[in-house]
Amino acid sequence: MKRVIIIGAGLAGLSAAMELAKQNIGSELISPLPSERAQSVLAEGGINAALDLMGEGDRPAEHCADTLRGGCDLADPLAVQSLTAHAPELVKSLSALGVPFQMEGERLVQRNFGGQKKKRTAYAKSSTGKAIMTALIDEARKYEAAGLIRRWPHHTLAELCTEDGNCTGAVICDNYTDSALRFSGPVILACGGLNGLFPGRTTGTTQNTGDAAALAFSRGAAFGNLEMLQYHPTTVAISGKRLLVSEAARGEGGRLFTVENGHRRYFMEEKYPELGNLMPRDVISREMALLDGQVWLDMTGLSRAEWTKKLPDLRSELKHYLNLDPAKEPVPVSPGIHFFMGGILVDRTHAASLKKLFAAGECACQYHGANRLGGNSLLGAIYGGMAAARSAALWASEHREPEQLGPVTPQPETPGFQAKLGDILYGGLAILRDEATLTGALSRLEELSSATLTEAERRRLELGRAMLLSALERRESRGAHTRTDFPERNDGQFRKTTVAAIRNGAVQISFIPVPEGGEAGAS
Ligand code: FUM
Repeated sequence: MKRVIIIGAGLAGLSAAMELAKQNIGSELISPLPSERAQSVLAEGGINAALDLMGEGDRPAEHCADTLRGGCDLADPLAVQSLTAHAPELVKSLSALGVPFQMEGERLVQRNFGGQKKKRTAYAKSSTGKAIMTALIDEARKYEAAGLIRRWPHHTLAELCTEDGNCTGAVICDNYTDSALRFSGPVILACGGLNGLFPGRTTGTTQNTGDAAALAFSRGAAFGNLEMLQYHPTTVAISGKRLLVSEAARGEGGRLFTVENGHRRYFMEEKYPELGNLMPRDVISREMALLDGQVWLDMTGLSRAEWTKKLPDLRSELKHYLNLDPAKEPVPVSPGIHFFMGGILVDRTHAASLKKLFAAGECACQYHGANRLGGNSLLGAIYGGMAAARSAALWASEHREPEQLGPVTPQPETPGFQAKLGDILYGGLAILRDEATLTGALSRLEELSSATLTEAERRRLELGRAMLLSALERRESRGAHTRTDFPERNDGQFRKTTVAAIRNGAVQISFIPVPEGGEAGAS
């Protein structure tokens, strides 16, 4: 049996493994945590598909247009067209697998989500990711039983093997014994976002360290749009992370306000009468960053039935962490890092710049341009995983048992490094940026780089440098990237993908045009 190596057992990795299994190709599904604990399980609000079940005349072409517009014209139009065209059948197939999407009688119900005028987001209360993952984990077991998916939980990527610009395999390390194994064959990276570079500042788990991506970067893979960090407008600081207050709360009628001269000001409704509190996240977060004073989310208008049927988990989380009942009083919110639009640059077939290396899910830069629409990440992860699997299948190699290597000697972490790196990157890559803050952050990074660091820390630092340099070189404002010194969008110069890569031992930044024509891949 031929096999492919997959790093990451969240939604994108699982989707890739299942797609390969359907083609009778095996996979080694390698992940530090089991699928049940992947970041995908935390996704709340829903998954987008123009199913047109709400009597609004929705179509995939509108989903495509909203996604491209929401991403400020930085995503590949044909890739997005393919994603959105396949969304309805994907959501139907999830429903057929038993995902408990919200129903009214026989009809699946969809909710409003940011940046979209139509009700297009299918959901399972406020735990959509968990519901989807539960169904897929269960479905995957039949492929595991047939030997088509072989799981390696509690294993971490220790090396990406490369030769002459080809990815030839991966070395993985057992997290408990430190013993190492070398697998040969094409690799799909589905290793999630770069949360570990921003400890305490993301809604996502810092178990997504960014180390696998940083390894790919250090081995020559090009990355795209690294400056595009999504700040979700409604998050709350809790111990060690940001708690997400799902956009679904605003989809169901939650309203943002600030208090001025003793009066509530519904600033989003005032300034953006059409979409109001459901403007894309980049717009809301920027407005919040420009305001003085606390912003509140008022969900007290939601009915008892809406809380019970649609957002029960959100209510209990807020009660648990803030000791506050959102059905009775407004919640103080502020933006927090939620998603990385940038990542391993892939083409329409999900191939990275190193041959036989593929990427899907949040670690890949593909569908979201300069700002992702809520509800498109679960979709992008499932569809991207399938597309990457189809491409990797073409290179799948005959199965060979992995080679047992000597134990990897773990290098002790440099005390304080992670927090310092996080501070520097968070300072430089704030919602509002300018040349002074970015160059200041780069100088601090240079100082940090003179310390004695482990190899993994140095790789993280270089990826962080690439993020800052990408933000410095994009001298315009677009989507999640607001340069106060270049406040206008500049299509002539910058409707381009920022490419970061290590060449001759140093991070280089260049820009390539956003793809326009050609055949959509992975259909
Ligand atoms: O707010 C949310 O529920 C987030 C959803 C998403 O990022 O897709």
